[in-house]
Amino acid sequence: MINVALPKGRLGDSVYELFDKIGYSCPELTENTRKLVFTNEEKGVSYVLVKPSDVAVYVEHGAADIGVVGKDVLLETEPDVYELYDLGFGKCALAVAAKNDWIEDTRLPLRVATKYPHVAQSYYASINRDIEIIKLNGSIELAPILGLSDVIVDIVETGKTLRENNMRVYTRIAPSSARLIANKSSYQFKKSEIGTLISRVEALE
Ligand code: PRP
Repeated sequence: MINVALPKGRLGDSVYELFDKIGYSCPELTENTRKLVFTNEEKGVSYVLVKPSDVAVYVEHGAADIGVVGKDVLLETEPDVYELYDLGFGKCALAVAAKNDWIEDTRLPLRVATKYPHVAQSYYASINRDIEIIKLNGSIELAPILGLSDVIVDIVETGKTLRENNMRVYTRIAPSSARLIANKSSYQFKKSEIGTLISRVEALE
């Protein structure tokens, strides 16, 4: 039995579609229910539905054997897990963005609003720029508009949110996409099950 931590939402829908195709179906998952655990004994798979930012927490602690999570989250939280495979979907980039007419004042610390404080700290440390982090949990683009920050560090997918708020990307920090991760001891104990799953994913390409 493989236990999978599946992110709720769009990313999870794509992951389940893929896993369904390669033999790990669990029809109950697609029903409109508030259940959080779904098991298909016959296919040897069990899914738990978790918040996307919590997938790596469940996997790191062994509450799930494997999971799928954005590289952006892995860069931010650096969980102690194996990153096994780039699934190639959920593509976006971690980037610095600001208003179209932003002019940097290099004499002052840069005020950075972000959901990714660790990524932002590391990036600005690498270019020796003093910053002040303003940690937010969503609608990050509002911060420069309201004068709460100078720039944001956030994910950009289509760029629509930035465009519609008169902002643009100034620097791309890192690309991101969905990654298959595994708990370190599960990877030893369930090597053949996990190996089979990966080879079925590869065979689809
Ligand atoms: C994310 C991100 C941007 C937006 C980027 O927000 O924080 O706001 O998507 O996508 P785009 O480039 O295609 O416009 P999300 O939708 O997760 O909501 P949030 O504001 O609550 O974080």
